[in-house]
Amino acid sequence: MSLRAILLGPPGSGKGTQAAYIVERFKITHISSGDLFRRHVRERSPIGLHLEPFLSAGDLVPDDLVFEMLAESIALACASGGYLLDGFPRTLAQAEKTYELAESAGFTLHAVVALQAPTEVLVARLLRRGEDSGRPDDTEAVIRHRLNVHEQSTAPLLDYYGRRGILQVFDASPPIAEVRERLLKRLDEIVTSADEH
Ligand code: AP5
Repeated sequence: MSLRAILLGPPGSGKGTQAAYIVERFKITHISSGDLFRRHVRERSPIGLHLEPFLSAGDLVPDDLVFEMLAESIALACASGGYLLDGFPRTLAQAEKTYELAESAGFTLHAVVALQAPTEVLVARLLRRGEDSGRPDDTEAVIRHRLNVHEQSTAPLLDYYGRRGILQVFDASPPIAEVRERLLKRLDEIVTSADEH
């Protein structure tokens, strides 16, 4: 059976890094809202011009716009069986709407993977990346703002998914390979157990 999962975590926790290993292991569709939005900004599409100020300031893109851009990809991913949503949902409104979409397609999630690490570890990683990433949101002031936005708008999702019994929390401060091993091992167990039921 395929894996259907969400990757949650503050900026710098390693969502993009670990997503690459997860989609490779389970051969599933990877949907990264941040990557999609940055592609539009890079290509200077009409929607990209609209998105740019939100991304540069480290503010969330409004929910209705996020859905307009992602609904089709999510529906297609549901139809393909397995998927990993990375950086989405990010607000309770997004989580509720995603739940409705998956439910209407007859799918339930296997896991919500939450990566966690101390704030100063996250800031240091993103400052290091900012030396050559070219991302306008990798400056110290914007990084700290993104972390506050995460705390206010996204951290409440931990309770939301915790209540549904599908939350898997991982310490994301060890080296990348160590986080990867723990995460893949747990996801293997979850998929195997889902196969048996
Ligand atoms: P998004 O692209 O989702 O960015 P983010 O959440 O800020 O996360 P990052 O990409 O900075 O970090 P990451 O957790 O993926 O870590 P990574 O693996 O890259 O969103 C960007 C913006 O788009 C948002 O601010 C918002 O404006 C908008 N947006 C996106 N989705 C939205 C939504 N659903 N609703 C509204 N707005 C939305 O790693 C970071 C660095 O750390 C790398 O250099 C990596 O090599 C390093 N690293 C990773 N893991 C480790 C480790 N274990 N040890 C040492 N270094 C590590």
